[in-house]
Amino acid sequence: MSVADGPMGDGVRVIAIDGPAGSGKSTVARQLAERLGLEYLDTGAMYRSVAFAAMAREVDLADSDAIVEIARNSDIHIDDTSVVVDGVDATTQIRGPEVTRSVSTVAAISGVREVLRVRQRAWAVERGGGVLEGRDIGTVVFPDAELKVYLSASAAVRAERRAGEVSALDYETVAADLAARDAADSTRQHDPLTQAPDAVHIDTTDLTVDQVVDELIARLG
Ligand code: DC
Repeated sequence: MSVADGPMGDGVRVIAIDGPAGSGKSTVARQLAERLGLEYLDTGAMYRSVAFAAMAREVDLADSDAIVEIARNSDIHIDDTSVVVDGVDATTQIRGPEVTRSVSTVAAISGVREVLRVRQRAWAVERGGGVLEGRDIGTVVFPDAELKVYLSASAAVRAERRAGEVSALDYETVAADLAARDAADSTRQHDPLTQAPDAVHIDTTDLTVDQVVDELIARLG
């Protein structure tokens, strides 16, 4: 299927992948994008970048208006290998425990979501589409995406995957942080994590990345 044939009718071919932390979104989205010849956007990195910028400027996370201003004014560059926020390389720090613990607070602010949603849509339109992963891509950002995917996995496997990536923290701490973040992301008022009714649901607990990507390619036809 060519880009011009995308069902959005505007030449934009979007694949939306949502799910909780550790469900396999980033790895699957990256490989799927490569196989389809599309670019990939980790929208969680955008929320993390705003949290990083707020902390760097020592802004109180309870001050929603100030955080929205930061979202509006911060210069965020995300590519396959690095994240640069206001000219500072934040690649490692946005994955660190401090940002990870505060990002749900930032992501719950509707004004922040509005600013980032506009940037996410613009990112895809500029490229004629792409594979975007996050929490609200299929439900809010691109409800007309060509394919919507909801990935899940057991809480234990998700915590194991995350603990493997973050060597500074033990499994119990990672599991507790993950459970707290899941609860915050799924119960917040604005754009909570939910499965779109027409999303393909894949439980990745016992699947390899290749198996998940093959299944999605098959769905695209
Ligand atoms: O995928 P991640 O763990 O890097 O995401 C970081 C946080 O950002 C996560 O706790 C929820 C939030 N997020 C969101 O609210 N909407 C998105 N589209 C992506 C992430």
